[in-house]
Amino acid sequence: IVEHCIKHFNTNHSLAGQHWVITAGPTREAIDPVRYISNHSSGKMGFSIADAAQSFGAKVTIIAGPVNLPTPNNCTRIDVQSAENMHEIALAQAVNADVFVACAAVADYKVAKISEHKLKKTSSNDAMSIALVKNPDIVASITALKDKPFTVGFAAETQDVEHYAKGKLVRKNLDMIAANDVAKQGQGFNSDDNALKVFWHNGSKELPLTAKKQLAEQLVALIHDRVQND
Ligand code: PMT
Repeated sequence: IVEHCIKHFNTNHSLAGQHWVITAGPTREAIDPVRYISNHSSGKMGFSIADAAQSFGAKVTIIAGPVNLPTPNNCTRIDVQSAENMHEIALAQAVNADVFVACAAVADYKVAKISEHKLKKTSSNDAMSIALVKNPDIVASITALKDKPFTVGFAAETQDVEHYAKGKLVRKNLDMIAANDVAKQGQGFNSDDNALKVFWHNGSKELPLTAKKQLAEQLVALIHDRVQND
C-alpha cells in the first residue's frame, strides 16, 4: 500500500493544499555563555520527512534546532536553539497546520539558572552539580490545542520500544507515533539509515531499515493514509 501511495503521490501531488510543520534536530540548553546540554540528533530524519512532504506537494515549515544541513527545496525553515524557543515557534506554526510531525530530539530538562558568566574551575571543587528543571512538552502542547493538527510524535528508545512508544502515544494524545531503537548500530541518531515501528490507535506498521530519505517517503505516505482514514 505504501509503495502504491508513493507512486500515486509522485504523479498527482496528493498533499497539495496541506501545511505540514516538522520539528527536527536537537535543542541546546545553555549552562553558561560558552556551554550547553544537547544530544546527537543531526536533523537528517526530520529534514528527510520535510523533503518528502514537499515533494508530494505539501507546503512545509521546518522548525530546526542547531543542525548542519541545507534547507530542502520549497521548505520554509525557522531556526531555534532551546526547547523553550522551539515550543514558542511550534505553537505559533501549529495554528495553521494540517499535520505536525515532532521529529526533534527535545531536551526534557533545562538548566534551572543559566550562569551569566563562564563557570570557573576551582581548586576546592572536585565535583559540581547543575540543577535542572523540566522543559515544556512541545508535542503535548500541540495536541492540547482546540483545533489540533494530525499529530505524529517520535519515540527514541533503547529498550522495550513498543511498550514505551505506545505509552507516549496515549500520554501525549498523539494520532501516531514512529518509534526507533536508538541503541542499534547504524540507525537512529546521526546515521543515514533508520528503521521505524509506527503505531496508531488501532494499528501498526513496521518500516524496515533503509535510507532515511526512503523511510521518510514511506512514513509520509503512511501519515497521509491515516489522515484520510481518521
Ligand atoms: O536527527 P537524526 O540524527 O536524523 O536522528 C533522528 C532521531 C533519532 C532524533 C529521530 O528519529 C527521533 O527519534 N526523534 C525523537 C527524539 C526524542 O526526543 O524522542 P523522545 O522519545 O525523547 O520524545 C518523544 C516525543 O516527544 C518526540 O516526538 C519529541 O519530539 C517530543 N518531545 C519530547 C520532549 C519535549 N520536551 N517536547 C517534545 O515535544
